[in-house]
Amino acid sequence: MENNILREDLDALVRYLQQPEPMLTQSAQVRAFEEEWSRWLGVQHSVFVNSGSSANLITMCALRELRGPGEVIVPTLTWVSDIASVLQAGFSPVFVDIDPHTLGTDVEQVLAKITPKTRAVFLTHILGYNAVNQKLLDGLKARNVPLIEDVCESHGATFQGRKCGTLGWCSNFSFYYAHHLSTIEGGMICTDDPQLHQTLRMFRSHGMVREATEVAFREDWIRRHPDLNPDFIFAFPSYNVRSTELNAVLGRSALPRLDANNRLRTRNLEAFLGALDDKKFRTDFAVEGSSNYAFTLVIRDADPDYRDRVQTAMREAKVEHRRGTSGGGNELRQPYLRRLFPEEYTRYPQVDHVHFYGYYIGNYPSLKLERIRELASFLNSV
Ligand SMILES: Cc1ncc(COP(=O)(O)O)c(C=O)c1O
Repeated sequence: MENNILREDLDALVRYLQQPEPMLTQSAQVRAFEEEWSRWLGVQHSVFVNSGSSANLITMCALRELRGPGEVIVPTLTWVSDIASVLQAGFSPVFVDIDPHTLGTDVEQVLAKITPKTRAVFLTHILGYNAVNQKLLDGLKARNVPLIEDVCESHGATFQGRKCGTLGWCSNFSFYYAHHLSTIEGGMICTDDPQLHQTLRMFRSHGMVREATEVAFREDWIRRHPDLNPDFIFAFPSYNVRSTELNAVLGRSALPRLDANNRLRTRNLEAFLGALDDKKFRTDFAVEGSSNYAFTLVIRDADPDYRDRVQTAMREAKVEHRRGTSGGGNELRQPYLRRLFPEEYTRYPQVDHVHFYGYYIGNYPSLKLERIRELASFLNSV
């Protein structure tokens, strides 16, 4: 991976700091970044927070506040905070296997697991591959189940020309190191729902009513609590997950080059998959509309000896890689879930294949095609 924060971003930050009295805590820069990001994505509202995991956390808190307790359908291949946030907000996670072509949730299993207790489907677009199809969107609409998209690894991916992150009730992004855009640490929650927007703003800042920007929404809380100072009404037990002006300056500086970078990343992925030997590795991923963040290397057959040889070869040649792809593979095998659902991890063969035979390898805009072809022929030679 390579750092996405360039000298020009650092220079923008230095210029900002050279002002006589630059504002540092969340203020106009954060608001401007939220507006610019909303325009880029095509949504009404965005809420900037200090990480993608914080985005997950307060999204689940807001879901619980607005829709009540129940179940949330989650993938078995995702990041830890996508499931930890579900647990932390008091929901019961319901697991589904992955589709090997998208690495996202298996749509048939999602639809089959919806019950009257389902409060949301929280899916992850893995490593730039769109995980949504029309059947899923229609099925969720017919059952009135909100879709929450984790787009942390897939900024700019599309489904039928529509950006991932605009397909459901709300969506979460991460701006951590090596993601498509980086603010050092950072995350964004995006939605068209004004009530959710107000609720998220409050959850971001201690559950405080004064964070709501809708006057009627705020006045309603104030009227119902006449014994409280309107500046200090804490509506929900919450957290402080705000970011700072400095992170927003970095995000604003990087945003204008995001689309061009994404095109390079996608070109790189096509070159990588196109050059891999499809008798040894899976190459049939759902690349249409994808916006790659790291190359997916999934060994075709469940052959542990061959896997060990590939892994050793990569280690010796200093090809940086992560086994299990996103989040380390089958989340259900992780101790934080094994102790809650001891047998569940054995039930999902597709994610288990990725767990034991899948890898990701860094992809970034400045990576040269020549090096990608060299990498693929090296892997093919094992
Ligand atoms: C799919 C997914 N969701 C959430 C996150 C969490 O983002 P952060 O590292 O900003 O907390 C990540 C992390 O990279 C991720 O890959």
